[in-house]
This record gives sequence, structure tokens and C-alpha cells, in this order.
Amino acid sequence: MVGIECARVRVHINADHRDLEDGCMRLILLGPPGAGKGTQARFICERFGIPQISTGDMLRAAVAAGTELGKQAKAVMDAGGLVSDDIIIGLVKERITQPDCATGFLFDGFPRTLAQAEAMREAGVSIDAVVEIAVPDDDIVMRLSGRRSHPGSGRVYHVTFNPPKVEGVDDVTGEPLVHRDDDREDTIRNRLATYHAQTEVLTEFYGDLEAKGTADAPKLIKVDGTQSIDGVRDEALSELERIAVSC
Ligand code: AP5
Ligand code: MG
Repeated sequence: MVGIECARVRVHINADHRDLEDGCMRLILLGPPGAGKGTQARFICERFGIPQISTGDMLRAAVAAGTELGKQAKAVMDAGGLVSDDIIIGLVKERITQPDCATGFLFDGFPRTLAQAEAMREAGVSIDAVVEIAVPDDDIVMRLSGRRSHPGSGRVYHVTFNPPKVEGVDDVTGEPLVHRDDDREDTIRNRLATYHAQTEVLTEFYGDLEAKGTADAPKLIKVDGTQSIDGVRDEALSELERIAVSC
């Protein structure tokens, strides 16, 4: 067995079997609403043994708990806008101090603005790779209008593309699935507009960092999100495994 040590990743290569120990991958998933970030986050987190940090799930938990943050966030989320940078940056900075993030994490739906991306760099949070899942707007409405979610875990299904084993209930817990409040067509269109106005620029931001070739620049990986769920998973994982080995 050959052990490769680096600042953030320890990979053991054993003949044709590669075992990724300790996670040690700091990743960002970018993409429009409904691109499949939550769906793919499950596969990536399981593969690398890292926690999924979904700011959307954190906000929905706050809404469900009726906290002050949840009350403020709900109106913004229902309108398809973005919760303020200060609140989101504070939430994420606090979350990544938790012990389960010591060896890596996957940001799902964060950063969503230049200010959020820059705040992470200013805080010295280094990122190994940014995975962008590209899906055209026309596919998004169909995906989100058919989505069903399990609020407790963040697991997502689709009535046609990824149905649960039993209609309307979560495969693991048997609890009822919900149709998210912001998955109405008017809100979906607003979320897409918000994405194009404020988030899309992050592809250029990370592309520029990569082009500069500085030591702390993350690798930008673009994946065709119009493939099947398994096709997207295979493409993303094979790119990420290459990074883990070459780190
Ligand atoms: P968030 O929860 O992050 O929502 P989002 O970015 O709009 O993304 P979604 O969760 O809707 O989609 P997804 O890409 O995860 O797709 P999924 O895998 O579910 O944020 C919600 C709100 O919170 C925001 O609008 C904002 O107000 C606020 N917020 C969150 N983070 C914030 C931040 N950082 N700053 C400020 N505000 C923030 O898949 C969608 C559907 O498609 C599913 O049904 C799935 O089964 C299906 N599907 C997935 N992949 C495929 C495929 N390849 N083929 C066919 N169907 C597929
Ligand atoms: Mg999601």
C-alpha cells in the first residue's frame, strides 16, 4: 500500500482499490436551483466521508423551528430572493468549526454571492475543488415542480426521474415527503433570475482564480447536469477522485 500525504488529503492506494481515508476534501457545489446539487451531494459526501453543508437545509430547519432567523428567512425564500450575506456567512463560519468538518466538507448552495465567496477566502478557508452542475433553465421548472423532499434528512426525489419506492414517503424513514414551498412556478422563475443576477458570476470568479494558478486556487470542474442522475454522479466522482490523488 502506498500512502500519499498532503496538506489536506491522505489517500491510500492499494493495487486497483483506492481507499480515501479521513475525507479531507473541501468542496463547493455550484449550479442553478434544481440543478441536482442536493442529489449529487449525497453521493460525493458518502464517497469522501465528508458532511454536506446545505445553507438551504439549514434555513429550512430554522423556519420549521420557528426561530427568529427562520421568521426572517421565510419571506425571502418564498419570494425567491437571497438571505443576507451577513447571516449566511455567520451560519457557515460557525458550522465549519464543528468537529465533523475537521477533515473536509461539501458546501451545497454556498457561496451564492461574490461577498460570500470572498468572505471564505478572507477567513482562510481553502477549497480543493468547485463542481459546477450546468442545467438549462428550461429543464429546471420540470425538475422542481416534480421534486419531493424529506425535510428531516434533506433527501430529494422526483415523481418521474427519481421516485421513492413507495409514493409520497421517504425510502429510509417511511415519513411523508413534502413539496417545498418555494417549488411553485412563480418562485422558481424568481430563483432562476436571482441565480443569473447574483450567483452565476461565481463560475468566472473561480475560473479566474484557477487561471492565476496560485497554490490555493481550487480546481473548477464543470459537469453536464442534463445527463441521468447516475451519469452526473459518475462524471463528478471520477473528476474528484483524480484531484484527491494528485493533491
Ligand atoms: P436551496 O435549498 O439551496 O435551493 P436551490 O439552490 O434553489 O437548489 P435546490 O435545492 O432547489 O436544487 P438542487 O440543485 O439541490 O437540486 P435537487 O438535487 O434537489 O436554497 C433555498 C433558498 O434558501 C434560496 O432560494 C435562498 O432564498 C436561501 N439560501 C440558501 N442558501 C443561501 C445562500 N448561500 N445565500 C443566501 N440565501 C440562501 O434536484 C432537483 C430535482 O431534480 C429533484 O426532484 C431531483 O430528483 C431531480 N434531479 C436531480 N438530478 C437530476 C437529473 N440528473 N435528471 C433528472 N432529474 C434530476
Ligand atoms: Mg438543494
